[in-house]
Amino acid sequence: MADALEILNLVKKYDSLIAVNDVTFNVKPGEIFGLLGPNGAGKTSLISTIVTVEKPTSGSVKIFGTDVSVQPRVTKSMTGIVPQEIVNHGFFNIEEILTFHSGYFGIRNNKTQIHFLLHKLGLFEHRHKRVKQLSGGMKRRLLIAKALVHQPKLLILDEPTAGVDIELRQSLWEFVTELRKSGVTILLTTHYLEEAEQLCDRVGIIHQGRLRRVGPTKELIDEFTQRNINLVLSKTTGSLTNKYLTHQDQNKVSFQIPSTMKVGELLAQTQLNVSDIVDLQINEGSLEDAFRRVLGGVE
Ligand SMILES: Nc1ncnc2c1ncn2[C@@H]1O[C@H](COP(=O)(O)OP(=O)(O)OP(=O)(O)O)[C@@H](O)[C@H]1O
Ligand SMILES: [Mg+2]
Repeated sequence: MADALEILNLVKKYDSLIAVNDVTFNVKPGEIFGLLGPNGAGKTSLISTIVTVEKPTSGSVKIFGTDVSVQPRVTKSMTGIVPQEIVNHGFFNIEEILTFHSGYFGIRNNKTQIHFLLHKLGLFEHRHKRVKQLSGGMKRRLLIAKALVHQPKLLILDEPTAGVDIELRQSLWEFVTELRKSGVTILLTTHYLEEAEQLCDRVGIIHQGRLRRVGPTKELIDEFTQRNINLVLSKTTGSLTNKYLTHQDQNKVSFQIPSTMKVGELLAQTQLNVSDIVDLQINEGSLEDAFRRVLGGVE
């Protein structure tokens, strides 16, 4: 089966500015892939070429095996895009907008799907409101509904939770997880790295237009972070010597071990008596730590 998305040596220049610089990666069918990077890294520029809003300077983008610059109508029909910027549609109400948008994809009677989305996104009771009567969070949900009217196989979400409250963010991510279960492939960008860590099977870290790292979320965290182990002992011990020791103060001892090392292995090395341990706290490395390390290493 073809990859859901295949990006090959993609370059996007705006005059002399290279926004996307020779980026290559793929997204597998059924995957949730997170494209992460600081402001101005090139995420939206890359997405704009996928959905043919922008033409690539060079390189190629394929969606389920079809080149977006050769058959854009085909690739557009397979893709749903939730753009980063909210656009006002002024005059029409939510239900009308979704109906017109279905027509744009050649779908005439789409009431079932539209009502399904309105319920799912908590917009049903607001369906007769015009866009200007909606709150920021409701507008964002409308964009998500718009992206899904034609039941795309690939959903691209560019900062879908920017300016969205915590409860709604949670429910949006639950919906994204449900969509994935039903077979939809998802590419998303977000600055909420904790959420990306929970959701994404794989992530790509982009910085100044270059893809610095790509891989399974867990593997990147393991590669770039360490585990911090803090022990409280029932009594003060003599000075410990261990290469992972980072701090010792009376009955408190801290270690930093590789993310793949087991705590038992550390304890065996220190020859501490387990019955002397009053408390043990383990802080695992996070995607945010890994992200900082990856970016720190290139600046
Ligand atoms: N239409 C455009 N014309 C000229 N330069 C642009 C255009 N769009 C983006 N840029 C520039 O390209 C670079 C990448 O911008 P892009 O919007 O892709 O970043 P991003 O990773 O999406 O950032 P953010 O997290 O802030 O959304 C930036 O330097 C930006 O100023
Ligand atoms: Mg952006």
